[in-house]
Amino acid sequence: MITKAIAVMTSGGDSPGMNAAARAVVRTAISEGVKVYGIYNGYKGMLDDDIRELTSRSVSDLIQRGGTFLGTARCMEFKTPEGRQQGFQNLQKHGIEGLVIIGGDGSLTGGALLSKETGIPIVGIPGTIDNDVWGMDYTIGCDTAANTIVDAINKLRDTASAHRRIMVVEVMGHHSGWLAVTTAIAGGAEYVIVPEVKSDLKQICDDIVESYEKGKRYSIIVVAEGAGSGIEIGKKVEEITQIDTRVSVLGHIQRGGSPSVEDRMKASMLGEKAALALISGASNIVFGFNEGRVVSVNLFDAVNNTKTLDPELVRLARVLA
Ligand code: F6P
Repeated sequence: MITKAIAVMTSGGDSPGMNAAARAVVRTAISEGVKVYGIYNGYKGMLDDDIRELTSRSVSDLIQRGGTFLGTARCMEFKTPEGRQQGFQNLQKHGIEGLVIIGGDGSLTGGALLSKETGIPIVGIPGTIDNDVWGMDYTIGCDTAANTIVDAINKLRDTASAHRRIMVVEVMGHHSGWLAVTTAIAGGAEYVIVPEVKSDLKQICDDIVESYEKGKRYSIIVVAEGAGSGIEIGKKVEEITQIDTRVSVLGHIQRGGSPSVEDRMKASMLGEKAALALISGASNIVFGFNEGRVVSVNLFDAVNNTKTLDPELVRLARVLA
């Protein structure tokens, strides 16, 4: 049971809705009579003692904002036991008894190691547009990012159709094809290439040529960055099909923007759950959503297992293409 103070931080790649989650953690802790500190710039801020007390006012005017007001960073030093000890000492200096970490796989791994080595209670909230945290089918920000991508696909189809071109759209996802396959289905793309499934580019090109011969005016291929460079794939596609091809690498535009209602709602619910659980003595768990319900997953299970891409999504993308 925590009676004095907790801290909240965001870490790894930012995602829309992280602010809503942090806001919920802060306001819940305060309403429980517990102080709450913000750790700025992720694990780097923990090491640099960039730790400040937050009030209810500190998180005003934030729910609609993308990014993270706490800042985030990728920190190599925290990957060493010495770095984590240094971070822990800074937490102790402020009387922080437990920590809420909002971030993806790598950030939660850092938290698991910190907890294992120092015993500090940790509760995780999955925040990444990649939707690749094990044990759950949703991570904060994936909905907004998917909407941004689908909006881009809609626009790209207009111009592809006008010129009878092929459009290759590269989306984020180094190890995970969730964003690619989801947006291929929701955006009505003809093909999707993801790191988890082997794709036959020659077959895709042959199919496209056949469809153009029958009168089709455009073809959209969504590529997850982890499956190969969109630019390279676009070159090969043009070479094989001899059809004018253009490539759009959406890049970091996918990570920004005002969070969707779904991301705001789920982030708020997870933030409250995480703060309440931490204060009432829980440790080493991650709260997430699975099949529409809040679930709690053991922190070590979440970071030691790899989430696989739902084969049903891959199948559906193919059937509907
Ligand atoms: O947020 C996760 C992620 O978006 C990956 O899909 C992508 O490969 C990576 O972050 C990019 O990270 P950075 O902003 O550090 O270049």
